[in-house]
Amino acid sequence: MLNSIFRQQLFVIFFLAATLFWSCLLSVDRASAYTVLTPAPGTVVIIQARRPVTRLIVQVTDQDELSRMQVREMTGKNSAGKNIKPVGVWKEQQISYVNYRLELQPGLNTFVIEPGETKVTIRYRPVRTLSSVDFEDPEAFLFHRRAVVPTSCTPCHNKSLPKDTGLDEKRMAKEGNFSPLCFSCHRRLITGEKWLHGPSANVDCMSCHDLGGKKTKVTIPFRRRAELCFDCHVNKTKLMKEKYLHGPFKFGDCTVCHDPHGNAYKFQLWADGRAELCVDCHSDKKKSLKKSLDFVSHGIIEGSGCIACHDPHASGNPFQLYKPVNELCVSCHIKLQGIKRGHPVGNHPLSGVENPLRKGREFACSSCHNPHGSKYRYLLIGDPLGGRVCGKCHH
Ligand code: HEC
Ligand code: HEC
Ligand code: HEC
Ligand code: HEC
Ligand code: HEC
Ligand code: HEC
Ligand code: HEC
Ligand code: HEC
Ligand code: HEC
Ligand code: HEC
Repeated sequence: MLNSIFRQQLFVIFFLAATLFWSCLLSVDRASAYTVLTPAPGTVVIIQARRPVTRLIVQVTDQDELSRMQVREMTGKNSAGKNIKPVGVWKEQQISYVNYRLELQPGLNTFVIEPGETKVTIRYRPVRTLSSVDFEDPEAFLFHRRAVVPTSCTPCHNKSLPKDTGLDEKRMAKEGNFSPLCFSCHRRLITGEKWLHGPSANVDCMSCHDLGGKKTKVTIPFRRRAELCFDCHVNKTKLMKEKYLHGPFKFGDCTVCHDPHGNAYKFQLWADGRAELCVDCHSDKKKSLKKSLDFVSHGIIEGSGCIACHDPHASGNPFQLYKPVNELCVSCHIKLQGIKRGHPVGNHPLSGVENPLRKGREFACSSCHNPHGSKYRYLLIGDPLGGRVCGKCHH
């Protein structure tokens, strides 16, 4: 620790000496021609994997310097050395503020600012949800740890909305949680997304976020037990009493699936909630999405997805199925509705006995058919040719 401070000081001294040298040599006064305002040097940023982006904001005092300034991305196979264009350059009195969006890759990211070859390094640690992050971790970079808005930003980011938002500020201001301040920097969170969450669309940021919390100046609501969501979605509370709860739902991790602000898919999901979302975690089921040469998929998954059978939150049946297995199957395969015996042969039972392949589980359609698809015809658990599927249970 001490060592690194010492090294930093050495570096500063060296840096000052170097600038002095250069300014003498070129006889232009350009000491502190630009300053990196954010991120802090040597930063570890912890950001949701869904939005692997952070900000680089550079303050420039010299117009010459501004016209020559370039930021290059040094990470990534294809992007090494690629120039990044700023999203905006804004001026306050004689000082310009250049705003870059940096796209990040897990691990070490390096950017170089020219002139001067100033290195900006960011170690990006993606997480599925910020609610699992330790906000006291001194290594973690939290923009709002010290102040809601650092003084270097306040000349422009204050309590009023930027001019061209198209939002009805007067109407919104009637709502106590309305926050134009947050919107002025985080507008991308809710503009450009297809499906917006009610309170975020109304810029009611403060209905969930807090100022001046204990650990940070802008707290991330991370009451994990989903109370935050249940505050308003009262009718979802009763699902917690169901017998079978889906893992992340049980732990109140609503935001691993739903973005509280907005996202590309219906219900503010970050991936198609019918199946893409599910197989991101249940990756062993990825092959179920499509049929291929050596895989027979269940026709229903391609269209309606996993949620044709499973409730993403909770239900009264094992595996959060909407109905007990056989009832579920015959609700679509109506030819077999009502029968207890007689499929696939003779007087074969369909329920009421134990599954010889899985002790303790009742015999059902899914004892012979894999609902997620299989290598064999009719989604069978074995080859129907030569009665090999029968041989799984009958010797
Ligand atoms: C000279 C004025 C000025 C200063 C100082 C300033 N900004 Fe901005 N910033 C703006 C303007 C103008 C916009 C565009 C507002 C809009 O259209 O929403 C903006 C937009 C942004 C955006 C959103 C850009 C986007 O991609 O949509 C972020 C993030 C941001 N500023 C962060 C900061 C931070 C952090 C600081 C302080 C380190 C800062 N700004 C200082 C003027 C300034
Ligand atoms: C001056 C611009 C600015 C304003 C105003 C602002 N933010 Fe931020 N915020 C940032 C930047 C920059 C980050 C760092 C993450 C990034 O680079 O995208 C950030 C990060 C965050 C984070 C992640 C945790 C952290 O501290 O890094 C939360 C939560 C957040 N902002 C919420 C808010 C809320 C709520 C408001 C309104 C009270 C607000 N912000 C106002 C610029 C701003
Ligand atoms: C319904 C509650 C809710 C509302 C309303 C809300 N937020 Fe959030 N916000 C959260 C939660 C929960 C998280 C943590 C998400 C996670 O689990 O990673 C978060 C995270 C963030 C982050 C950091 C992570 C990210 O997604 O980039 C920013 C920035 C942020 N909020 C800004 C805002 C702004 C600006 C508004 C208003 C337009 C707003 N929030 C409205 C609940 C809310
Ligand atoms: C401050 C109140 C409030 C909080 C807190 C809140 N929501 Fe909402 N939510 C709303 C409102 C209002 C709507 C819009 C309802 C509508 O359009 O019918 C909505 C809509 C939704 C929808 C879309 C519902 C639909 O039928 O289209 C989802 C999904 C959702 N919220 C999830 C969440 C999650 C997850 C959380 C917790 C991170 C949360 N909400 C927290 C108020 C809230
Ligand atoms: C595993 C991912 C996942 C988790 C975790 C999750 N949801 Fe959902 N949620 C979904 C999907 C998928 C849908 C869409 C279901 C559909 O299309 O029928 C949905 C729909 C919704 C809806 C709108 C439709 C409805 O049923 O009213 C609300 C509101 C909602 N979820 C709230 C929550 C809350 C609150 C939590 C946390 C307690 C939560 N969700 C946790 C995946 C999830
Ligand atoms: C964020 C990761 C995540 C996402 C997204 C997700 N799940 Fe899960 N799922 C889990 C976890 C964790 C468990 C609990 C595993 C355990 O208890 O062994 C689980 C359990 C299940 C189970 C019960 C498994 C068992 O053996 O009891 C089913 C069924 C299931 N998920 C289906 C779905 C469906 C359908 C979707 C999409 C709507 C989905 N999951 C999306 C993480 C996820
Ligand atoms: C046609 C209905 C149906 C569809 C569609 C479906 N499942 Fe299932 N799923 C079931 C049944 C039935 C079971 C219980 C199997 C058993 O009894 O062994 C199950 C069990 C599971 C389990 C726990 C046991 C295991 O095999 O790991 C997971 C996880 C699961 N499903 C995830 C998914 C995912 C992810 C999708 C979408 C790709 C999906 N399911 C689509 C019916 C379905
Ligand atoms: C939501 C409706 C739905 C449910 C529930 C459902 N299926 Fe299906 N199933 C389909 C569709 C659609 C097809 C594709 C039909 C086609 O390709 O002609 C299909 C195909 C099949 C096939 C292959 C038929 C063939 O001729 O190749 C079998 C076997 C099957 N399902 C068994 C089951 C079993 C077992 C269950 C319960 C675990 C089940 N299904 C639940 C809709 C459903
Ligand atoms: C003892 C094993 C076994 C059980 C249990 C079983 N099946 Fe089958 N199923 C088969 C076999 C074997 C075939 C292929 C029949 C053939 O070759 O004609 C088949 C064929 C099918 C087909 C496609 C052919 C057709 O008749 O349309 C569907 C759909 C089907 N089963 C659905 C179900 C449903 C729904 C259940 C539960 C009510 C179920 N099966 C229970 C073994 C079983
Ligand atoms: C997943 C295991 C399983 C598979 C696969 C299976 N069976 Fe069975 N079969 C059973 C069980 C369990 C019983 C009931 C045994 C009992 O009552 O003790 C049964 C009973 C039978 C009976 C006696 C029915 C009666 O009249 O009581 C016949 C015949 C039979 N199976 C033939 C087949 C044939 C042919 C196949 C292949 C198409 C097949 N089984 C596949 C588990 C299976």
